[in-house]
Parts: sequence; structure tokens; C-alpha cells
Amino acid sequence: MTILVTGGAGFIGSHTCVELMNAGHDVVVIDNLCNSSEKSLKRVEKITGKKVVFYKGDILDSDLLSKIFKENKIDCVIHFAGLKAVGESVHLPVEYYDNNIGGTINLVKEMRRADVKNIIFSSSATVYGNPKEIPITENCPKGTCTNPYGWTKWMIEQILTDVYTADNDWNVVLLRYFNPIGAHPSGLMGENPSGIPNNLMPYITQVAIGKLDHLNIFGNDYDTPDGTCVRDYIHVMDLASGHVAALKKVEKGSGLSIYNLGTGKGYSVLDIVNNFEKATGIKIPYEFAPRREGDVPQCYSDASKAKAELGWVAKYDILEMCRDSWNWQKTNPDGYEN
Ligand code: NAD
Ligand code: WQD
Repeated sequence: MTILVTGGAGFIGSHTCVELMNAGHDVVVIDNLCNSSEKSLKRVEKITGKKVVFYKGDILDSDLLSKIFKENKIDCVIHFAGLKAVGESVHLPVEYYDNNIGGTINLVKEMRRADVKNIIFSSSATVYGNPKEIPITENCPKGTCTNPYGWTKWMIEQILTDVYTADNDWNVVLLRYFNPIGAHPSGLMGENPSGIPNNLMPYITQVAIGKLDHLNIFGNDYDTPDGTCVRDYIHVMDLASGHVAALKKVEKGSGLSIYNLGTGKGYSVLDIVNNFEKATGIKIPYEFAPRREGDVPQCYSDASKAKAELGWVAKYDILEMCRDSWNWQKTNPDGYEN
């Protein structure tokens, strides 16, 4: 199949391009590079030995989307393009709603015009808010988000659900990612955060390489086994293979389907520090700091639906996730900029 990957130069998109191409699919990418580098796509080509068709541009640009659908026979869209910084979204809500929701509406309009009715969307466990049940199944009701970024995911899920309800010819797969970390095992591709990272793993790798002095652990008085927050960390290559599995489902006719993509295991912040130290032999100095606003104490998946219906399970363990995150940081201290 030929897949249009929006946001394909980004962290998860670029790794997914590798897995799609390794599975025999052709890949067309649209990305405005607002949070990524075209070099990631060069690395995709290096790893796979195949060409990526790349359009530098914005999903808000209808003319460009229309041109892409005319020039390529697209079978399915995997939609990663979006802004994702939780804290930034609190300060720039209009920009987030415009880019993420406006961009998706524009994309869906152009898909409809081109008669392409298959879409896999990057949603997030953030739509569960403070989850009503742990581990979280897909039947857990969507909750109240704590920031505009989360609401964009929540609302885009609703929009795509309504698109499906109005026209059952669509196949819509909503993938709710838990906490993606790790990097391609080659060390050629990984996460490329700009500025000081907000997320735990890139923060830890930057402490390990000496760019940051120590880790602040946000809260040690939660009602969890060691008092620090628990999350379901998943290797980005597992996430990528989850998209290939979802694509098989689309090919057979998925209708509207929702899947958690997680490992089903919860690790605390201290567990991650300990596993990182074990995997790399590097000590991570840390201090306990006040709780971060908006953090939920525990968030981990029940991943059994994806196993049963997609035949997909996460394969990488936490030590491999730490090893690959570090391998990427160590060999590319400045990300794609060096
Ligand atoms: P990323 O920032 O690395 O990738 C997103 C890509 O989209 C970037 O390359 C960016 O340049 C591009 N982009 C943004 N707006 C665009 C626009 N209007 N037009 C064209 N391109 C645009 O982020 P990621 O971590 O790879 O995340 C990919 C998707 O998965 C996002 O939608 C994100 O919200 C979602 N997600 C990420 C996480 C996570 O923790 N990384 C968790 C759950 C869901
Ligand atoms: C993990 C844990 C922090 C940094 C976010 C988004 C979510 C999804 C994934 C996109 C928390 C703690 C972190 C630090 C710390 N993204 N931490 N010190 O918050 O679970 O999820 O990314 O959809 O929507 O909210 O991930 O990596 O930021 O934090 O103690 O310097 O690490 O408090 O408990 P989070 P994270």
C-alpha cells in the first residue's frame, strides 16, 4: 500500500516510516518541520535502503494536500502531524486548536475529496484524564483533560468518530499511545526535543550526557508504591510496529476501532532512574521537587485488546528502552543538528 504519513519527520512518524517500509509499503510524507529535521528522513532512507517521497509543507495547506493526493495513489493516511508540548499548549491554546484540530479537519476534507477514507490517528492516553480504572482498558470512559493539547486529542477522536458515523465507508483507527521512549536500535534515529526537555526520558539522557545537572522528580508523596508517578513506557519501535498491525486491520475493514498501545506494565519515576542506571552504568543525580500540575498518579494500559484483535504485543523491555534512548543521545549529542 501507499501510505501518506503526516508528521513523518517527527519522532514517532520517522520510526513508523521505517517499519512501514520494512513491511513493504511505500511512504509519502508531509511535514512542515516545525518540530523536526528533514535529516530524520535521510536516516529512514539509510536504514531501509528505500526512498521516501517528501513534501515539505503544512496540513493546513489545502492546495498542497490536494496536489499530494493527485500525484500519489494514497491508500491510507497515518496522521501524526500536530503540536505536542503540554505546557506550551496552556499558553498557546488557539495555536494548538488551530494546528491540531484545524489541520485534521483540513486533512479529512481533502481525503474525502480524493476518496481516501482510511485513517489511523495518533491519539494519547491523555484522553482518559485521571483514569477511572487501572490498568486502563479502551472501555474506560474518556475523562477531563488538564490542558489544551489533551483536549485536541479528545476532540479529534470525536471528530473522526462522527466522520465514521456519517459515512461507514470510512475506516478510522484511534491509537492511544502511552509513554513513548527509546530510539531505533541502530542509534541513527531518535527523539529530537528542542530546548530543555519536558518529558522524563530525554531529560534523563541529557543529565547522563552532562547537559543538565540533575533530574527533578516531580512529587514523591503520591499514593503509589514508592510515592512517585507510575507510567506505561513503550519503545518507539513497538509503537511503530503497532501502526503496521493497525494498517492490516484497515485493509480488512476496521470500521471504527480504538486501541491502547502500551506494554501493560507500570514503572515509577524512580524505577526508570534505576533501570537507566542499570542499563547504562551511569549514575543519575536527582532531587525531589514539588508535584507538577496536571500529572495523574498512575497511568498504565491493559494492552490485551490490541493483542487479541491486531495480533500486536510490545516486545522491548524497560532495559532495552533505556539502552536505546541512551545510545541515540550518546551518538547524537545534539540530535540531528550535528
Ligand atoms: P513530533 O513533534 O516529533 O512529530 C510531529 C511532527 O508533526 C513534527 O515533525 C512536526 O514538524 C509536524 N507537524 C506539526 N504540525 C504540522 C502541520 N500543521 N503540518 C505539517 N506538519 C506538522 O511528535 P511525536 O512525538 O512524533 O508525536 C507524533 C504524534 O503522536 C503527535 O500527534 C503527538 O501528539 C502524538 N503523541 C505523542 C506522544 C509522545 O509522548 N511523544 C504521546 C501520545 C501521542
Ligand atoms: C512522566 C513522569 C512526571 C520530567 C506526557 C503527556 C502525555 C503524552 C506523553 C502526548 C511524570 C515525571 C518528568 C521530569 C519528572 N504525550 N517527570 N521529572 O506527563 O506522563 O505524559 O507525554 O500525548 O499527553 O502529558 O510524560 O515524560 O512528561 O512524565 O519527575 O523532569 O515523569 O512528573 O510522572 P507524561 P512525562
